[in-house]
Amino acid sequence: MAIVSPSLLAADFLHLESEIDMINNSEAEWLHLDVMDGSFVPNISFGFPVLEAVAKKCTKALDVHYMINSPERYIKQTAKLGAMMMNVHYEACTHLHRTIQEIHDAGMKAGVTLNPSTPVSVLEDIICDVDMVLLMSVNPGFGGQKFIENTIQKVQRLKKLITESGSKALIEVDGGVQGETAPRLVAAGVDVLVSGSYVFGAKDPHVIIKELKEL
Ligand code: DX5
Ligand code: ZN
Repeated sequence: MAIVSPSLLAADFLHLESEIDMINNSEAEWLHLDVMDGSFVPNISFGFPVLEAVAKKCTKALDVHYMINSPERYIKQTAKLGAMMMNVHYEACTHLHRTIQEIHDAGMKAGVTLNPSTPVSVLEDIICDVDMVLLMSVNPGFGGQKFIENTIQKVQRLKKLITESGSKALIEVDGGVQGETAPRLVAAGVDVLVSGSYVFGAKDPHVIIKELKEL
């Protein structure tokens, strides 16, 4: 059984209320929220005014993914939303250990995200301090991109690091997760599937969420 975290980036922003209703009524456990700053990634998505509105309406655990430089600037504001998980990029944090501690002190779970070109080995000294590792299976910034095949081996390497270190970190994958890639990811050791266009673009998103969950 995988945890499913549909990515709101692929939702119809003109009808956010009904999209959140759909998520609330679905079997998804989490909602994935992609924040982009136009600097760490070449795109801008949404910020706190939208996050606050979504947080008020959404009954699922909020899985916030910051694709921004120096995300530690927003720890308090993120905690105030009631977010369950705050994911920060390894590449965007100068003092990652401190940032993880501050996320925990603010009452949230802490996730570390790796870009496709960042090796799992950089996590060796932090793996026991994090609640989750988010592996990007596309270059962050846009939905609907093609899955990078190397992610499967990366998941296997991460699983090995987690097991050998005694860490309890979950493995989440984000980008190009759909009917063909999802089963292979779960077989490789993934715990949480983020999926944007595959879920929100579906005729019946409930069926897709159920299908992903049952993997
Ligand atoms: C990409 C985002 C993803 C995105 C995934 O930068 O982090 O969460 O929404 O979209 P799909 O599932 O369409 O690849
Ligand atoms: Zn994401």
